[in-house]
Amino acid sequence: MRLLVTGGAGYIGSHAVLRLLEDGHEVTVVDSLVRGHQGALDTLARIGGGRFRAEIADLSDTERLESILRSRGVEAVLHFAALAYVGESVEQPLRYHSVNACGSLSLLRAMTAAGVGRLVFSSTCATYGEPAADRVPIREDCPQQPINPYGRSKLYVEQVLRDRVDAAQRSGEPFGFVALRYFNVAGADREARIGEDHRPETHLVPICLEVAQGKRPRMSILGTDYPTPDGTCVRDYVHVEDLIEAHVLALGALAMGEGRAWNVGIGRGHSVREVLESCRRVTGRKIEAVEAPRRPGDPPTLYADAGRIRSDLGWKPRFDTLDAIVESAWRWHDSHPDGYGSAS
Ligand code: UFG
Repeated sequence: MRLLVTGGAGYIGSHAVLRLLEDGHEVTVVDSLVRGHQGALDTLARIGGGRFRAEIADLSDTERLESILRSRGVEAVLHFAALAYVGESVEQPLRYHSVNACGSLSLLRAMTAAGVGRLVFSSTCATYGEPAADRVPIREDCPQQPINPYGRSKLYVEQVLRDRVDAAQRSGEPFGFVALRYFNVAGADREARIGEDHRPETHLVPICLEVAQGKRPRMSILGTDYPTPDGTCVRDYVHVEDLIEAHVLALGALAMGEGRAWNVGIGRGHSVREVLESCRRVTGRKIEAVEAPRRPGDPPTLYADAGRIRSDLGWKPRFDTLDAIVESAWRWHDSHPDGYGSAS
């Protein structure tokens, strides 16, 4: 297929592009490079050759998007481009709503104008907010009550997509979407050609690995008094390649006139201390940790009931232990000590 990937220079988007190129698709990336990396695009261009093209553009530029969609004959869009730091979204809500919500509206307008009707949208478990204890593991029908602007911006786009599909059903216009609600994504390409490089880095696995590399003196365990078995937050860690497999399956299942949503998580929770121990085991290095106060906005426990995506799409994660996920992240970090900043 001829596909457009927004945010294809970012962590998750670049892994999607790599997989789509390996599957033989023709891929055009649109990325502003505000958070994405030119280094990722260079690697993807080497791998994709003539089937890959990158356009440095902002999602707000509807006309440019429309022209790219038309000129490349795009049949479906995978929409990853977004700002995705919860803490930053609390400090800069307007920026988050502009980029995530208005950017998505601009993309949808461009798709409508160009007659492109298939969309896979990157949503998040942050749309569920802080579910009641009896709603964890979290099913897709759990009430979506986000507790921060990031989660609200993503939920808003899901709602717009539902409105869009309702209108398309009435008019007979071809439009269908899938929203995938990601849990905690980690790991890297199995050959470590691309990987995770956030600036600033706020995510637990890469922070632990940066301590192992000697790039940071220690990591902080953010909150040890949560109502969880060891007092630290519990999350559902899913490997980025398994997440992308879910996109490939979702794209295949996407039907005109329908809007579907699936959780993408392994369906098991791991605490911060368990992740830290896994990073120590996998790297064989001492990772110094200190106990620190809670980070505002962190729900105690979030993990998926992944039953629906497994039964509907036959999705089966290949990386089903924390150590396997951390090993893959470590291969990238160890071989790219400065991420995309180092020669690779
Ligand atoms: N944590 C630490 N120390 C750190 C960094 C994180 O203890 O230095 C803890 C956090 O407090 C949290 C857990 O590790 O309990 C995981 O934190 P991450 O920042 O790695 O991930 P989050 O769960 O906060 O965020 C993820 C995605 C977001 C998404 C969110 C939904 O990265 O995009 O889940 O809650 F919105």
